[in-house]
Amino acid sequence: MQRVGLVGWRGMVGSVLMQRMEEEKDFTLFEPVYFSTSAAGKPAPGFGGVTPAEPLQDAYDLESLARMDIVLTCQGGDYTKAVYPKLRAAGWKGHWIDAASALRMEPHTVIVLDPVNRPVIDAALAKGGRDWIGGNCTVSLMLMALAGLFREELVEWVSSMTYQAASGAGAQNMRELLEQMGRLYRAVEKDLADPASAILEIDRKVTAALRSPDFPTKNFRGVPLAGSLIPWIDVPVEHGQSKEEWKGGAECNKILGKPPFRTPGSIPIDGLCVRIGAMRCHSQGLTVKLKRDVPLEEIEAIIAGANEWVKVVPNEREASERELTPAAVSGTLTVPIGRLHKLAMGPEYLGAFTVGDQLLWGAAEPLRRMLRILLQ
Ligand code: HSE
Repeated sequence: MQRVGLVGWRGMVGSVLMQRMEEEKDFTLFEPVYFSTSAAGKPAPGFGGVTPAEPLQDAYDLESLARMDIVLTCQGGDYTKAVYPKLRAAGWKGHWIDAASALRMEPHTVIVLDPVNRPVIDAALAKGGRDWIGGNCTVSLMLMALAGLFREELVEWVSSMTYQAASGAGAQNMRELLEQMGRLYRAVEKDLADPASAILEIDRKVTAALRSPDFPTKNFRGVPLAGSLIPWIDVPVEHGQSKEEWKGGAECNKILGKPPFRTPGSIPIDGLCVRIGAMRCHSQGLTVKLKRDVPLEEIEAIIAGANEWVKVVPNEREASERELTPAAVSGTLTVPIGRLHKLAMGPEYLGAFTVGDQLLWGAAEPLRRMLRILLQ
């Protein structure tokens, strides 16, 4: 059995990954060795009912890591940057599977999303590839939804306007969002209990609470999310884009095996990324410029047939309200796409809306499936 080193299994993405691996009985397929940055020597967990042979190993100990056939890390980019180059420099030839973005755009790595780019993964494996990196959540979720159109080479360009959940910013941000919601409610609780109270007075109190210096905003860089939104995610890069927006073009093209973004033969993918007060589902409003006028029924069939998780929701009010929301999708692997219709700009312009769980297909699931591919 191959020995798999698990790093960062306690964090939010790591915990979702462990849960999915238990559900799919992955732990019966390899010998798990758990690593820790803080508790080496303590007893290791027994996920999947498998008692590990070794206690927790030191996640910074290169010799311990070098004994692994595969290392799977959700520990974050700083860990990757601190450990990966040294491990490779020491001659380690194992497979490195990583949730962090640190190595994503390195030429020797593949961004893994096997329902979309299994041929890219297989080609890299055949050439001796050993570095398998999970994609940005919005990117992976958009590609899961639009895989059929890309596969049929129907896409000229895509504009994606995102509505990103608090989980993408981290566990502390999810907590802070809920604290903010509670604070707003408490500011007007008495007024709400009185049916005769004036709504504009309630609104005034909510706005005063949002702007109050003691509103809990530490994790959101000093601004409210509940009752508001934040139209910037991650650091600025170039062309007026935020890094999250840049990833859309850069990563999508790499995942699809296209030439680098903004070079001939690549697909222009761009838009604005916005944080909203959802918990763990990212949503995206898409404009797709098709290469030709394809009938809507055909488009729906192509999208629905691309993989077993994408689900076309009819462009009807009730179905959209019920099925195409973070509340409906949270905690599931289904990636619904709906609101599909031709836009007023012309018959090649397709409008769509998609939702996906940012911690599942957006983070843990592609890594879990890559591990499975390596264990085959
Ligand atoms: N960068 C994403 C976000 C999450 O902030 O929502 C990680 O892919």
